Amino acid sequence: MPSFCPPSEASSPVPTPLFSVPSTPETERDDCFDEPAALAAEDAQFVLVTGGLGYIGSHTTLELLKAGYNVIVVDNLSNSFHHVFDRILMAAKLHFDRVGGRCPRVELACIDFRDRAAMAALLAAHAVSSLDLDLGQDQDQAHPQGRSNITGVIHFAAYKEVHDSLRNPLKYYQNNITGLVDLLGLLDQYDIKTFIFSSSANVYGTLAHDHGTLREEHCVHQPTTYRDADGHEVVSEQGCTGITNPYGRTKFFGEAILADLALSDPSWTIIGLRYFNPIGCDPSGLLGEDPRGVPSNLVPVVMQVLTGQLAELSVYGSDWGTPDGTAIRDFIHVSDVARGHTAALAAAHEQRVLSTFRTFNLGTGSGHSVAEVVSAMENVTQQPIPRRIADRRPGDVASCVAIADRAAAELGWRAEKTLQDACRDLWNYLRFNPTEFCLS
Ligand SMILES: NC(=O)c1ccc[n+]([C@@H]2O[C@H](COP(=O)([O-])OP(=O)(O)OC[C@H]3O[C@@H](n4cnc5c(N)ncnc54)[C@H](O)[C@@H]3O)[C@@H](O)[C@H]2O)c1
Repeated sequence: MPSFCPPSEASSPVPTPLFSVPSTPETERDDCFDEPAALAAEDAQFVLVTGGLGYIGSHTTLELLKAGYNVIVVDNLSNSFHHVFDRILMAAKLHFDRVGGRCPRVELACIDFRDRAAMAALLAAHAVSSLDLDLGQDQDQAHPQGRSNITGVIHFAAYKEVHDSLRNPLKYYQNNITGLVDLLGLLDQYDIKTFIFSSSANVYGTLAHDHGTLREEHCVHQPTTYRDADGHEVVSEQGCTGITNPYGRTKFFGEAILADLALSDPSWTIIGLRYFNPIGCDPSGLLGEDPRGVPSNLVPVVMQVLTGQLAELSVYGSDWGTPDGTAIRDFIHVSDVARGHTAALAAAHEQRVLSTFRTFNLGTGSGHSVAEVVSAMENVTQQPIPRRIADRRPGDVASCVAIADRAAAELGWRAEKTLQDACRDLWNYLRFNPTEFCLS
């Protein structure tokens, strides 16, 4: 069994992968900057990605580059590492070497998105004069800071640990809510009004107890009428039922704030993407889930058991009333989640979104139990994963699975990858990063 190695700052430098690594394409990168540099190409358009070095953000940045978007990443490294930026560039270069074409531009700003002065400087560096946009004087008065070449924002940056949020609720409300409100005000000044928000299946709270499979209308911010699976008309009132922790509440409140904003000003296009349980990583083995601190999600803990950093996995409850007794979740490959963002952005830019605020589940539509995930990982790795049964955790539910039909119908997006794909890619990531994870 490999020896213990804490996943700390010491793991930050880019480890030596087991395959040939392309050199960083210097012409296409800008180094991390505190003072945003003036743009070289005035007419280029960008997508701003907050939290773009985190687990889902890094995969989404890569998918955006593959789809041809120029990207500005904002991250304060509170739960990620600077080397992730180099990994994104390497993975993008591998992609464009394979398929041909030129990698779009990507910039990194290592700033806190709540730092108003730093964000204002970044947005000012991307402001486009009214002359360039051929706007009238009225437009300038409506947007005192001018217009922008940033055509949309994907907002991942947030704190996300359920149990930490129970201990430190104000920390969560400050970053996830106060930060969001201030960011929206700043974006408004630059007329940046396409906004994609990282929401969560957490907004359904204990509704999962009643429904098992969850559709967007189960949690709404305006009264909504829909037909259920039996064709009966159902009226869904706004509000939420049984959200069990401050983290989940920040996602519900965040959505509610965005819904109110979109209602008050229909020039916004706002999409809330409700992720179910993202797992896996990019098949290149260059990107993965590498949080600072102690992880609590199933897969990062399984990874720590596989690398010997943890002796065993705690399985919370084996009496859930599911076929094997362990809880069922909708595990979705993170690259599918990432592609959900490019699909949402395209729909927003092409004005195909049915309302100014719209939510979409990003899930596969089918569930796997915790025991199934562990055994799938054991099959791929050919290593036993020691586990013990622990008590159920407060707030957990037996089953939480998405109905993902809305995203398929309106965004043209479906999850494509399987649980086995996710396990194989995770194992690649572990093997390609031996120094980071202490595999020998
Ligand atoms: N991973 C999941 O299972 C999951 C499920 C549902 C929703 N979400 C949401 O998706 C988003 C991304 O999740 P993730 O798993 O990639 O998390 P992550 O922690 O890996 O990524 C978040 C990134 O945001 C950065 N960040 C945090 N606060 C910041 C700030 N104030 N300024 C600048 N950067 C900041 C962190 O350094 C990190 O790189 C979060 O909003 C999370 O709540 C995640």
